Amino acid sequence: MDDLTTLVASARREFDACADPAALENAKARYLGKSGALTELLKGLGKLPAAERPAAGAAINVAKQELEDALTARRSAIADAKLARKLAADALDVSLPGRTRGIGALHPLTRVQERVETLFRSMGFTVADGPEIEDDFHNFTALNTPENHPARSMQDTFYVEGGMVLRTHTSPIQVRYMETHAPPIKIIAPGRVYRVDSDATHSPMFHQVEGLWIDRDVTFADLKATIVQFLRRFFERDDLEVRFRPSFFPFTEPSAEIDMAFGDGGWLEIAGSGQVHPNVLRAVNIDPEEFQGFAFGMGPDRLAMLRYGINDLRLFYENDLGFLRQFA
Ligand code: FA5
Ligand code: MG
Repeated sequence: MDDLTTLVASARREFDACADPAALENAKARYLGKSGALTELLKGLGKLPAAERPAAGAAINVAKQELEDALTARRSAIADAKLARKLAADALDVSLPGRTRGIGALHPLTRVQERVETLFRSMGFTVADGPEIEDDFHNFTALNTPENHPARSMQDTFYVEGGMVLRTHTSPIQVRYMETHAPPIKIIAPGRVYRVDSDATHSPMFHQVEGLWIDRDVTFADLKATIVQFLRRFFERDDLEVRFRPSFFPFTEPSAEIDMAFGDGGWLEIAGSGQVHPNVLRAVNIDPEEFQGFAFGMGPDRLAMLRYGINDLRLFYENDLGFLRQFA
């Protein structure tokens, strides 16, 4: 049994000399592996006289357990040492560059919205707001679009619980504002809107900026002047190609869609607009014999496409930093 004591002692020395996990596993193999020293002793048990076998076997198992314990202790000592070295290195290396925060920037659509607000404020408009989840009345009915009106299908809608809709346009804010304010009214109302739409110029969630100017004598000429003046200042040039294309909305009469030249000889629609329909004014107790004016619903995401030369507006919504950083 002196053999065993010597063997355990030399194994301990070897284990303790190992500086990394690989060396330790090799040392382990020399004692506990298939032909390791201790394994060989176990194999030799059979040659002992039967009377000596139980005691010898027990002693070998004790030795084996001692080696396992020594290995475990050494494994964790090696891991501790590694961590300590790492901590010491981190603590001491004052030459490493600091961990800085990236400099943030506004999303291009946010910048466009702020620019739109600034320009309209400078023309005397104030900025109003309304809920994104709307009731059917404000999104459609009060806008002269009763149930079963074919114009409802111009806007494929996301219905939510309780007959509410994700608003399909910012026009319900007109209604809400006129319910609570008497003319003269001169507001814009930017916000998110939702439709079942998706292609290069349509995103299912997008933005609109509603405009509403109601007074005694606000005409279609004022609409044209306001829009053209805004666009000239937004794009910082006077030679813009803008076209007012006759159209239909239940809540305006006459109605026009506003297009801008885009690409090679094409046009991109940037807004719907028109003189507010008398029925809409009546629905909010404004006398259409006394007051009149215009409204528009502009797509600022389309303005961003034109301003930055982007050919697919869905890029604005993909959160690709490589794309977004170009506008920072
Ligand atoms: C309307 O939504 C009307 N409420 C506009 C209006 C307001 C007319 C007040 C008269 C008076 P339209 O569906 O055309 O109209 O949308 C208005 C603008 O929103 C479009 O010209 C376009 O610029 C933008 N737009 C519409 N759908 C999308 C979409 N899926 N993605 C991005 N922009 C869109
Ligand atoms: Mg349209």
